[in-house]
Amino acid sequence: AGEFREHWGSKLGLILAMAGNAVGLGNFLRFPTQAAENGGGAFMIPYMIAMLLIAIPLMWTEWAIGRYGGSKGHGTTPAIFELLWRNPIAKYIGALGLFVPFVVLCYYVYIESWTLGYSFFSLFGMLPHPDPSLPQKEYLQPFEEFLRNYTRPSPVAYLFFLITMAFNAYILYRGIRGGIEKFAKVAMPTLFILAFILMVRVILIETPHGTAVQGLDFLWHPDFSQLANPKVWLAAAGQVFFTLSLGFGAIITYASYIKKDDDIVASGLSAASLNELAEVILGGSIAIPAAVAFFGVMNATSVAKSGAFNLAFVSLPAIFSNLTGGDVIGFFWFFLLFFAGATSSVAIAMPVVAFLEDEFSFSRKVAVTVTVIFAFLVAQVPIFMPKALSEMDFWAGTFFVVLFALLEVVIFFWLFGGERAWEEINRGALFKVPRFYYYVMKFVTPVVLFIILVAWSVSSLPAVLKSGDLQVWTARFVMIFVLALQMFMVYLAGKRRRQEV
Ligand code: PHE
Ligand code: NA
Repeated sequence: AGEFREHWGSKLGLILAMAGNAVGLGNFLRFPTQAAENGGGAFMIPYMIAMLLIAIPLMWTEWAIGRYGGSKGHGTTPAIFELLWRNPIAKYIGALGLFVPFVVLCYYVYIESWTLGYSFFSLFGMLPHPDPSLPQKEYLQPFEEFLRNYTRPSPVAYLFFLITMAFNAYILYRGIRGGIEKFAKVAMPTLFILAFILMVRVILIETPHGTAVQGLDFLWHPDFSQLANPKVWLAAAGQVFFTLSLGFGAIITYASYIKKDDDIVASGLSAASLNELAEVILGGSIAIPAAVAFFGVMNATSVAKSGAFNLAFVSLPAIFSNLTGGDVIGFFWFFLLFFAGATSSVAIAMPVVAFLEDEFSFSRKVAVTVTVIFAFLVAQVPIFMPKALSEMDFWAGTFFVVLFALLEVVIFFWLFGGERAWEEINRGALFKVPRFYYYVMKFVTPVVLFIILVAWSVSSLPAVLKSGDLQVWTARFVMIFVLALQMFMVYLAGKRRRQEV
């Protein structure tokens, strides 16, 4: 298998595709709400530490694992873990690298489709335009109602979901170079330009309640007492994972299309830096400053606490609704989110597609069709059951991500071997990684990940396990079914590989 695997067309294309993978809804929604809730400017201290001790090491690890697997014809972890660690259970551990992205895909595309729907509504002036002199609560009400009706789900929401699925399928059909890379080359510059325009427009907002500059003050005001709270440290680690797409298998599969001797040290850092630019500078300067300017500092805390979705789909449309040119600004906002979402969702779809191509010799078209149909079926669960969506997000999007990250570092640096792993990372690099990082990757990263996993389990598992209505159980049943099916396919793929040699 895999003698004819594709490669990225250029270094710039690779960096933009990887940045597209990383830059997502997390940058513009999750980051500002997490920072506001967890100490403001002080949040950046655990954030930076998590970046240096977990994210950067994991990023180089995933790029290296992926490039190594790709050079041997494999782009997903069931086969790659077996290459790194000759043990029959390695491939079943690697099945997590299919399970996590597939389950996340099934609800991520749905939320992405809301941003497309809202782009459309903004552009055509279809969102509410209530009287701005109304008290805040009454002013927000029509926007809350609009969102509730939309996500019921309305037939229109379902239509936008179908369109979004079809759009993702189209990009995937066109392949790595002709689809994903080409799309990223258009979407990423557009996204940065839109975010820049929005940032500038938001900074100019001034209302009787406040200004955007006060919003920046509010977001970045450091509350150092928060650093004593372990929750803040876990939140920072969680954000760093999510925003850089680490532990999802998505980076590994993208990296498997890099040529064997191409630099990954510098390209990895470039892609990560673009993500951080989009997160800290652009993501920090749009949603929260706008909310403070419009609602005042006093109310901004409650806006931040009401969560990322509320911020994106209720507060911001409400704010834009009364700005001059607000409909266009709203369109920019939602279309920015759509591009951010779409360049990420194709990345989470890729592992299963690549698995079917590499391990079962499916053609690209058949692999994409099977993946999309299966994702469409599973997506019915989160679409019609909001509690199922959060259950899937907890297991696939949070818990298994950290477990998977821990397993991949241990497999790479301990079972494959530290020196060999180090060589893999640095092969072809213009600037080698400082040796200091060898010790970080081998010792510090796995220990910190283990501590996070235990702390997380202790703090959130009991509550999650206790909840169990019909929606939650449906989600669990479907996830177990998906995992069992993927394990079975991993078993078949392993048998196939043995027959080949
Ligand atoms: N990194 C993306 C974001 O910030 C989310 C994501 C995770 C995308 C995993 C792909 C894979 O929104
Ligand atoms: Na991100």
